[in-house]
Amino acid sequence: MATVKTKTVWFCKECGNESPKWMGRCPACGEWNTMVEETVATGKKSAPASVTVPGSSHKPMPLSDIDSSVENRISLNNAEMDRILGGGLVEGSLVLIGGEPGIGKSTLSLQIPLHCPDLRTLYVTGEESARQVKLRAARIGGDDANCMIYSETLMENIIAEAREMMPDLMIVDSVQTMFTQTVESSPGSVTQIKETAAMLLRFAKETGVPVILIGHITKEGSIAGPKILEHIVDVVLQFEGDNRGTYRLLRSIKNRFGSTSELAVFEMTGKGLREVSNPSEMLIPMHEEGLSGVAVSAMLDGTRPFLIEVQSLVSSAAYGTPQRSATGFDVRRLNMLLAVLEKRAGFKLSVKDVFLNMAGGLKVNDPACDLAVICAVLSSNFDFPIPSDVCFAGEIGLSGEIRPVAQTDRRIIEAARLGFRKIYVSSFTSLEGLAGQDVNGMEVVKVADVPALCRSLFKGN
Ligand code: TYD
Ligand code: MG
Repeated sequence: MATVKTKTVWFCKECGNESPKWMGRCPACGEWNTMVEETVATGKKSAPASVTVPGSSHKPMPLSDIDSSVENRISLNNAEMDRILGGGLVEGSLVLIGGEPGIGKSTLSLQIPLHCPDLRTLYVTGEESARQVKLRAARIGGDDANCMIYSETLMENIIAEAREMMPDLMIVDSVQTMFTQTVESSPGSVTQIKETAAMLLRFAKETGVPVILIGHITKEGSIAGPKILEHIVDVVLQFEGDNRGTYRLLRSIKNRFGSTSELAVFEMTGKGLREVSNPSEMLIPMHEEGLSGVAVSAMLDGTRPFLIEVQSLVSSAAYGTPQRSATGFDVRRLNMLLAVLEKRAGFKLSVKDVFLNMAGGLKVNDPACDLAVICAVLSSNFDFPIPSDVCFAGEIGLSGEIRPVAQTDRRIIEAARLGFRKIYVSSFTSLEGLAGQDVNGMEVVKVADVPALCRSLFKGN
């Protein structure tokens, strides 16, 4: 009988590169301190990672002859999930949902079959017992005879069971607990995660069953395991936000069947996750008039207009070097905006501590928020409140000019819908898109640069 030999190799956690010895820096991707030790069997050959997609032939064929009508989408009876997936779950796709512990991955993945009683679902749980899943389902308030709970972690058994059952949907919670006998390392290691994902991908593509895979997120915010896991799967959805608050944001960071940078918003309630179809309700002020240091930005996340409250606190620096801290906003961009205020508008902020916070734990990267950021900073600095029916949308250039931003008309319509009366935009903005739209008498104030904005906003002070 042939004995299986093992050897120790080193894998890069970022790119999966294999090396016979430890190195401080991965030679393939250049990341530091990412090599982890693993034992692999040398005798056996692991299964090939290549797969056959149903409907595709092995011969090259003209693009025009390929039938694309096979892309069937399954609605998950959840408007937010369907939208973030680009219009429903595509048959045969592998979707990875990542997030920190306790953010709601298992809750969301159990809610999907409970909301779709017509779908025959195989729910594989490696983290919780079947009884725990039942308790959670009772809490969410659902029961479903079509949802099969399978408590197992060995991939060979899971795939065999799935092939026998041929469900409409398969959910695997989580990739880090699954293991296969073809590789000799412990569950959660780079080789196991790679192999598990490849097996699920092969299953999904060969049978057309969509698979939802749950993955953990490391402290640095990336999905634990090799980066190639994100390359293997078709869709990556990542939970964002604060797991102490009640709102949960699910962002699409990769989607082979739809647009990325879509955002779904949920609220964690006593009965599971509730869809929030009007996210501005959680992001705009719920306090009395007259607070300084807050400004509302009419931003766009993906294709969706939002109004979000930007909060700032400016105080005299207690120590020699002033502190600059930002939650949900790029600190380097904040520093640049403060430099623009100092140099182009003469505000002495270099001796002040500046703190910035975006409401709702949202991470913002829309440059249109610049205008609200500087207004919040100036409002806090002069202790001058901005009226609560005023909002902002504009990008700040290095010479202090206010630049137009994409889709200003949609931002204005959303702001008008939410009852705002006045919006500040760049003077170069074209408002042709607004023709014939109902903006409830919203006043659009065009400003060319930071000094003009200050004159208009803080006049009389
Ligand atoms: P969970 O979905 O298990 O998170 P994950 O799988 O991402 O680790 O749990 C999410 C948290 O939500 C948990 O701390 C309990 C809470 N929760 C509710 O508030 N309401 C509910 O109805 C459920 C099911 C969980
Ligand atoms: Mg879980």
